[in-house]
Amino acid sequence: MTVISNVVKGLGCVLFPLALAAPAHAADVEVLNWWTSGGEAKALGVLKDDLAEKGIGWKNMPVAGGAGTNAMAVLRSRVASGNPPTAAQILGFDARDWAQRDTLANLDQVAQEQNWSEVLPQALQEFTKYNGHWIGAPFEIHSTNWVWGNKALMDKLGIEQPKSWDDFLAALKKAKDAGYIGLAYGGQPWQDATVFENVVLASGGADFYRQALIELDENALKSDTMVKAFDQLRELLTYKDSNSSGRDWNLATALVINDKALFQIMGDWAKGEFDNAGLKPEQDFVCFRTPGTQGAVTFNSDQLIMFKTDDPQQKEYQETMAKTIMSPDFQIAFSQLKGSVPARMDLSADKLDACSQKGYEQVKQAADADKLMGSLAHGYAAPASVKNAVFDIVSSFVNSNMDSQTAATQLARAVQGAKS
Ligand code: GAL
Repeated sequence: MTVISNVVKGLGCVLFPLALAAPAHAADVEVLNWWTSGGEAKALGVLKDDLAEKGIGWKNMPVAGGAGTNAMAVLRSRVASGNPPTAAQILGFDARDWAQRDTLANLDQVAQEQNWSEVLPQALQEFTKYNGHWIGAPFEIHSTNWVWGNKALMDKLGIEQPKSWDDFLAALKKAKDAGYIGLAYGGQPWQDATVFENVVLASGGADFYRQALIELDENALKSDTMVKAFDQLRELLTYKDSNSSGRDWNLATALVINDKALFQIMGDWAKGEFDNAGLKPEQDFVCFRTPGTQGAVTFNSDQLIMFKTDDPQQKEYQETMAKTIMSPDFQIAFSQLKGSVPARMDLSADKLDACSQKGYEQVKQAADADKLMGSLAHGYAAPASVKNAVFDIVSSFVNSNMDSQTAATQLARAVQGAKS
């Protein structure tokens, strides 16, 4: 041992793989995920710590890249080489995809014990079950139709929380005129698509969102309402800065945190970054539903899927992970750090902050009104082929002078092609 550690010390990180030769209990579960920002990593730590208390060792397998863009490629290659991790973070349609390939462990027993079918909203159960069997343990519910605002800047510039789209644009303009960045923007395809789904919902309402991005109705995709959505996106883009290309989402959030930008449109994982910076909702930052989208919620949920194994101990660990994730205490503790709300609808919101309390209530109301709809950008509206086709068109629009009519026509065509 001494010899090895001396050698390791001597050669620095070159010999890092030696660390993997540690006793088995040091890495009883290997979990692939893309939670690498400050807030995300802290939230993931809740699972690691809970498992440690149960004597289960943790090997983290982080693959940086928002919305799992890079993680999915790594996961595919691990499974293809016959060496899947114990478990992986996954989003809706991708979870179905793995289930369809018959690669996933069945979580029915834990689900029954904890009564998952009673406590999870139906819109989510569509993705946590496959052919009647439970395939994923949801960590939380996130939603994408949120705006995050810098409170001090709002006060300084005399900006009230915008209630309408016009108010929203007026606020962005005020910030820009005063020399700030109006809209903190990360120029990556999934982020373009996150903002895009916000304008689709804001310009057409819940029914239109469903027709266009979930039912993939060709007429809705090329309609005047879709043209209007692209117009709104074009206008929003005039309030971003010119360095947004390729920027990570959390660096865009940091622009709001550091008084450089007024607003960011982003899922509520952004709140994890404000929390991580020690900022308090309503005091230091504000959260509100994107103007024009109130009443509806575009959601996604990170699930942990477990890969089939013959090893009885691995199976036991997988069940323990699923059970831990869906326990009431975990659901609250995790969301407190992640910015999300619990996936379970039966918990007290007392220990959540003001934004999450509001968000939890809105998710419940939207679920009751059948307006809890899957996020396209985050894998809950359409299969990956369609999602990627939408990303391509939206990002081409963002990065060129394409007009809105052309964008809508191309969108309808690309989606039809990807569907077939
Ligand atoms: C989402 C995921 C969130 C957060 C975000 C940024 O798809 O559900 O948990 O990680 O991507 O990476």
